[in-house]
Parts: sequence; structure tokens; C-alpha cells
Amino acid sequence: MRGIMTEEKKDTLKKAQAVLSKNPIFTGLEGFYLEHLMEKGEVRGYGRGTQLISEGEQGDEVFFILSGKARVTLYGEEGREIVLAVLREGDMFGEMSIVDEKPRSASVEAIGALECLVIGKEGFLEYLSRHHRVYIRMFAYITARLRDATRKIGGLALLDVCGRIAHTLIGLAKPGPKDKSVTIERPTHEEIAAMIGSSREVVSRALKKMSQEGYIKIEKDKIVLFIHAE
Ligand code: CMP
Repeated sequence: MRGIMTEEKKDTLKKAQAVLSKNPIFTGLEGFYLEHLMEKGEVRGYGRGTQLISEGEQGDEVFFILSGKARVTLYGEEGREIVLAVLREGDMFGEMSIVDEKPRSASVEAIGALECLVIGKEGFLEYLSRHHRVYIRMFAYITARLRDATRKIGGLALLDVCGRIAHTLIGLAKPGPKDKSVTIERPTHEEIAAMIGSSREVVSRALKKMSQEGYIKIEKDKIVLFIHAE
């Protein structure tokens, strides 16, 4: 990204820095940390449904989302799938294979139009070796992801279908400790089923029950979750 910059490129760079500075890896760090990162990679756009990473393949790139959303998925037999996470602006993915040199742990695909900063393995490792503060913060980032995964495994293993749906929706909404209700963009019944490892029909029935019992309110493209203190 070095050399003479057009106004358009400068603008892209500025927007990318604004988005990535919200990622806890970079929050509060001096501007040069992100400038160096941007120099190591390039901005790429992807259409809806594009598979950026395929489970089991060798990995040689890491991605930072600049706009749009991506889902991290495991595919089972007969087309069954489970969505491990929905990633958003500022999130990083693809770092696991870069760090441990093992095959990609899951597949990642664009949910809608997606724009990412893409950095090659060598460049990323070189960047980390020169920026120890980022290196250390990556531990915290990956630890947070492990916490999410632990929470999710607990939810899948220990709760019934309504509990699993509530657990998943609250995970998407991330309410504050004092929130009594929170509104989220409504995922399709199929998407919820993929997140909890169930079927669309079972999810439809459970949502109806949850709505009748006053735990949620379903609107056209939103769901309101009512948070009940125990
Ligand atoms: P990698 O294994 O290189 O390729 C797939 C990527 O998906 C992986 O790196 C992580 O960045 C991401 N990923 C894997 N598992 C999870 C998870 N449970 N939650 C969020 N992201 C994940």
C-alpha cells in the first residue's frame, strides 16, 4: 500500500483505520500500529456467499473485516452445518492456521457483501514480531473467543431448545448488565437452527412458544428479547 496514494485510496485507508481501531487488539494504540498493518495487506471485496476459507485447507492469509458480516461454519455429513460464530466489522479471522500451521479449523463465508483487509502469512508474522503490544493483545482476543466457545458448548449441551435459542440470541445481542430488554436484527429460523444444531421446524415451534410466554417479541425484521433476572 506504499507509494503515491489517490484520494480514493486515502479515504479507504482512513475508513479502515476507523473500523479496526474498534477491535480490542488495536484500541488505544498509537496510529502507526494500524498504519503498519495496512501496509502489510490489501483491501478486497467479496460478494454474498463467497467462501473465503474452507475447513481442512492450508491457510496462508489472515482477514480483518472492514464492512459486512461473515459466518464461521462447520459442515457435517448430509449438508448439516453448525454456525460457530457470526463475525462483524473489526473482527479478525484466519489467524489460527497462520499461528499453528495446521489446516483451517472451520469454513468462513460472506453473509452479505463483505470487505476485508487481507494479509499474507509472512507479512502478518513479521508484523507481530515487530509489534509486541499487538502480539500480547492477540492472546486476550483469542481468549475472549475461547470464552464465547465455552459458553456456547455449555448452552448446547445443558439447555433445552428454548434455552439454546435464548442463549444464542443473547450471545448475539450482548446486553448490558442493567438492560431489561434488547432488540436484535432477526435471524431467519434456518440461521438460528444452524447456530443451535437443530432444524427449522423445531426452531419455529420454540420461537412461537417463547413469544406466547412473553420471553420474546417477534417483529418484521427484529426480535425483542426480554431479560428476566433470576
Ligand atoms: P483458521 O483455523 O485459520 O480458519 C478458520 C477460522 O475461523 C479460524 O482460523 C478462526 O479465525 C475462526 N474460528 C474458528 N473457530 C471459531 C470460533 N469458535 N469462534 C469464532 N471464530 C472461529
